[in-house]
Amino acid sequence: MSVDSVFRTRSLGVAAEGLPDQYADGKAAKVWELYIGDIQSRTQEYKSWVVSLLKRHGVRKVLDVACGTGVDSIMLVEEGFQMVSVDASDKMLKFALKARWERRKEAAFDQWVIEEANWLTLPDDIHRPADGYDAVICLGNSFAHLPDFKGLDSTVWC
Ligand SMILES: C[S@@+](CC[C@H](N)C(=O)[O-])C[C@H]1O[C@@H](n2cnc3c(N)ncnc32)[C@H](O)[C@@H]1O
Repeated sequence: MSVDSVFRTRSLGVAAEGLPDQYADGKAAKVWELYIGDIQSRTQEYKSWVVSLLKRHGVRKVLDVACGTGVDSIMLVEEGFQMVSVDASDKMLKFALKARWERRKEAAFDQWVIEEANWLTLPDDIHRPADGYDAVICLGNSFAHLPDFKGLDSTVWC
């Protein structure tokens, strides 16, 4: 079973180049914050483990490979991490870019890098800093989008 056939059966989205974008109709992006529930409590919950985990490991530079509308990246920018945030869906990224624009006068937000990229082709899609990243994150059930290359419906546990 090809990757394309897996995606096509699940989504009416219009395919972006190299990757069918399940969020292409923009509907999920518009209601994302409603969908994920109370943003304050989610952020608080995430902070208690992600931020402390990253800090414990001395992480400074983070790559968020499925940032969506940017909820977690924003939290990490606010916490002082250097963020590079990418996503395959331009409809989702639109909201991250808007948040960045609205807070562009804050130095941390001015330095926040947001780009469209497919995590399957990251080396082609984004520039890798010479010293790499200290951590790569993929949050909010994004692994559910991992293509089932072998058609085995196998689950990835991390
Ligand atoms: C469930 S959303 C989670 C978004 C965000 N991490 C959050 O927690 O709000 C999954 C995201 O993964 C993105 N995505 C799916 N496949 C991707 C891929 N191959 N490369 C990059 N992003 C991908 C989608 O566009 C979507 O924004």
